[in-house]
Amino acid sequence: MTPVTIAFAEQRRRLDSPELAPPPSGRKLNLGCGPVQPSGWVNIDGSRRAWLATRFGWLDHLLVRAGLLSPTEFSPMVRVHDLLKPLPFANDSVSCIYSGELWEHFELPDAVRLTHECRRVLAPGGVLRICVPDGAVFWRRYLDIYDEEMAKPASARAANRLRDHVQLYFNDIATRRIWLGSLGHTHKWQFDEVQLLQLFRDAGFAEVRRMGFHESHIPGIERVERSDFLIVEGVKPAASPLPAEAVRAREPA
Ligand SMILES: C[S@@+](CC[C@H](N)C(=O)[O-])C[C@H]1O[C@@H](n2cnc3c(N)ncnc32)[C@H](O)[C@@H]1O
Repeated sequence: MTPVTIAFAEQRRRLDSPELAPPPSGRKLNLGCGPVQPSGWVNIDGSRRAWLATRFGWLDHLLVRAGLLSPTEFSPMVRVHDLLKPLPFANDSVSCIYSGELWEHFELPDAVRLTHECRRVLAPGGVLRICVPDGAVFWRRYLDIYDEEMAKPASARAANRLRDHVQLYFNDIATRRIWLGSLGHTHKWQFDEVQLLQLFRDAGFAEVRRMGFHESHIPGIERVERSDFLIVEGVKPAASPLPAEAVRAREPA
C-alpha cells in the first residue's frame, strides 16, 4: 500500500460519520478547470488556449496586445492535458477529484473511460465528484412550454418559445466552437441523475449519491465548485474489485 492509501484507510476508520467522511490530505485534481483554478488543487485543462498560455505565455500576451485574442483565463500553473487520454497519475495516488461541467463534453464511451480512470488513480476512500447540466431539467422545461401552448386554443398557440428552446440546444449546447477558444462549448452527451449514478456504480464507486451544491465529502469544495447543477459523488471502496467490464477487458480473447 502507498502512504496515501494507508492514510486514507486510517482516517476513514477513525471517523464517526462515514457518510460524509472527508478524504485525508493528498493530491486533489480539478479536471477541465477552465477559469476555476484555486490554489491547493492540480488544475487540469486541455484546451488549445491553455496550451498556448502555459507554454508560450509571451506569444499569448502579444496576441492579446495586438487585439487578436481576448485575455486568457489560464494561469501558467494550469496543467495541460487532454482528458481523452489516460490520466497522468499512478494508481491510488490521488485523494479527490472534482470536475465541473466537463463530462457532458465527452462522447459517452469517453466519459465512461474517464470515470474508470478516476477510480484507478484515486486511493481507496478517495472521492470523485462530478457536476453536469441536468438533461432532465432542460427537456422538462421544453415539455412545460409545450404543455402551456397546447393548453391554449389552437389559434392562440405560438411557436416562438419552443423554437427558442430548440435553438438553445442546437446553437449553444450541442455545437462546435472556435479553434483557440475553450473546448467548453461543445456538449456531446446529456446526463441525468439516473445515468450519472449508474456511471459511477458501473465504474466501481461506492456510496454513490446525488449531492447538494457545496455538500461534499471534500472539505473546501466551495473553492472549486461554482455551478449548482446535477452533482454526484462517489467513494472508491477500500476493497476495490475491478468492475466486471474491466475484468472482461483483461481476459484473453
Ligand atoms: C464548461 S468549462 C468548465 C470550467 C469549470 N470547471 C467550471 O466548473 O466552470 C469545460 C472545460 O473543460 C475543458 N475540456 C473540455 N474537453 C477537454 C478535454 N478533452 N481535455 C481537457 N480539458 C477539456 C475545456 O477546455 C473547458 O475549460
